[in-house]
Amino acid sequence: MIREIKNGTLYFDGCNTVDLAEKYNTPLYVVSETEIVRRFDELKDCFVNRYERTRVAYASKAFSTLAMYKLCQREGMCIDVVSGGELFTAISCDFPAQNIEFNGNNKSYEELEMAIDYGVGRIIVDGLTELDMIEEICKTKAKIANVLYRITPGVRSDSHDYIVTGRKDSKFGIPLDEHILYPYIERAISSPCIDFKGFHFHVGSQLHDNSSHLQALDILLHHVTEVKRRFDCEVQELNLGGGFGVTYTDEERKPFSYFLEPMMEKIEGFFAQEGMKRPAIVIEPGRSIVAEAGISLYRVGQIKNIPDLRTYVSVDGGMTDNIRPALYGAKYSAVIAGRADEPAETEVTICGKCCESGDILIKDLLLPKVEQGDILAVFSTGAYGYSMASNYNKNPIPAVVFVKEGRSEVIVKRQTYQDLIKNEVLPERLTVAEQRTR
Ligand code: LLP
Repeated sequence: MIREIKNGTLYFDGCNTVDLAEKYNTPLYVVSETEIVRRFDELKDCFVNRYERTRVAYASKAFSTLAMYKLCQREGMCIDVVSGGELFTAISCDFPAQNIEFNGNNKSYEELEMAIDYGVGRIIVDGLTELDMIEEICKTKAKIANVLYRITPGVRSDSHDYIVTGRKDSKFGIPLDEHILYPYIERAISSPCIDFKGFHFHVGSQLHDNSSHLQALDILLHHVTEVKRRFDCEVQELNLGGGFGVTYTDEERKPFSYFLEPMMEKIEGFFAQEGMKRPAIVIEPGRSIVAEAGISLYRVGQIKNIPDLRTYVSVDGGMTDNIRPALYGAKYSAVIAGRADEPAETEVTICGKCCESGDILIKDLLLPKVEQGDILAVFSTGAYGYSMASNYNKNPIPAVVFVKEGRSEVIVKRQTYQDLIKNEVLPERLTVAEQRTR
């Protein structure tokens, strides 16, 4: 068990969370290595080791750190990156470039150049001028790029609007208009610098129903047939994206096999029937690898009781370390780390310390009577918490600690105040403390 309560205190991957808060200070991201490895093991059992020519490319936007990339490498996982910054981070710790897939709807020329120089394994083309840039770069460098096309399948998904990506009205993917898609595919197939590998889709995130993946897959398979018919080209690879939902409060997390088994069944059936070799299959889970592997620890500060209305419990972090409640209305659950077994009978609202009324982490949470100085542990914050953190109000970004079977170590140091100003430049003319008179 990753979460345990011993003598009333919450333990996470064997570590006493009150002691972690004491040792590393708060706010603190705590990430369980055991839980991440367990997710990878689940994927190995039901996917990678079960079907030939399959890969997992962890979508590192969910949590991108050197330690995480190294963990992926040790576990034999590929990764997906979506920016020069993520790519640089992975390469900085010697992550093998050929195991990197590069996504993104507006990759810059410089980012593509960097990816081609490093020799990333796949570039997922997600725009109608991207191919020109890739070709130009490859021509000058005498390289060949392995390319997949991200299509917009035009399916509905049941998730927050901001994290639905597969519907027709989306900034992501190449539209399925035959006058746009097929000439663009033909160009890739006939280009000497491009190895056109196949298609990619990503329908959305935090999904608990497999229907949009299955619908998107049907659409994708239709285009596989068309590419064979029109260009006599058999695709070598399909990437089915990520999006598998996790538990934040009471959502039931489905096993990976719930999504993967029916998709693989459909794929194997389709290619057997068409008499084509089944292409390699890649998935890109992000959230489902790291979300539940993370908790956030905060220290309780001011408590404001508005009689007959609401009790605001302020913590020393907020929307700067977890933007998800403010941005998506995301729900979380939490306990008081040192009194995790006490009956939760008081309804409170957990708010952050930013100068925003929207800086609410958890509305109407039941807790035991809270006191200033208590440590609050918020669950399932491992995905898109640290990676979306900001310095709003000049708050330093908290430290990240990896925990494993009772041991803990810092993998990202807490920012200092000095870090907050290290890129700032004070123009000389303003250094003179002279007041303008008018
Ligand atoms: N592949 C592609 C091309 C993606 O765009 C994404 C997520 C993933 C894979 C991974 O999806 P996941 O398995 O994590 O659901 N910041 C938002 C989530 C944005 C997801 C964007 N794309 C949040 O905090 O909910």
